[in-house]
Amino acid sequence: MLWIKAFHIFFVVSWFAGLLYLPRLFVYHSDITDEAGHRRFCTMEKRLFSIMTIGGIGTLLSGLWLLFGWWWPPPEGSHWLGLKLLLVLVLIGFHLACWRWLRHFAAAHNPHPARYFRLVNEIPALILLAIVILAIVKPF
Ligand code: HEM
Repeated sequence: MLWIKAFHIFFVVSWFAGLLYLPRLFVYHSDITDEAGHRRFCTMEKRLFSIMTIGGIGTLLSGLWLLFGWWWPPPEGSHWLGLKLLLVLVLIGFHLACWRWLRHFAAAHNPHPARYFRLVNEIPALILLAIVILAIVKPF
């Protein structure tokens, strides 16, 4: 199971590379006015989204493997695990929101200013901090 845990962390890092950087690309893309620049950003966003989707699927599969192969049934009082899974659901929602924003940009119909994506950019960072504390410290 330590092998699965190692792969779990590898996939988490790949997923977060995209979750943290894609909204940053949206910040810069919001201010682009020329057609060539717009197309370049669309290509970068699409490629990053593909890579982070592979990272996300790998995280979920390896996480579920750890859960059902090692941590099931969860030991008495492992409430950290429930909260972690809840935050993972929020992350999946954020991933789908990224896909929606990407589609808006691809159709040249982004309704949001750069400041909106600057704020949005903080969400995965906060969730990452919370999940790492829950998974390592297991405070409750
Ligand atoms: C479906 C989603 C997920 C499931 C079911 C899941 C489940 C698990 C399980 C059962 C473990 C083993 C716990 C242990 O041995 O201490 C684990 C380890 C870990 N998970 Fe996840 N996980 C998921 C997603 C994530 C995400 C999104 C992150 C990061 C943001 C993450 C970060 C970690 C870390 C850092 C460890 C290592 C903990 C340690 O070695 O003490 N996991 N995960």
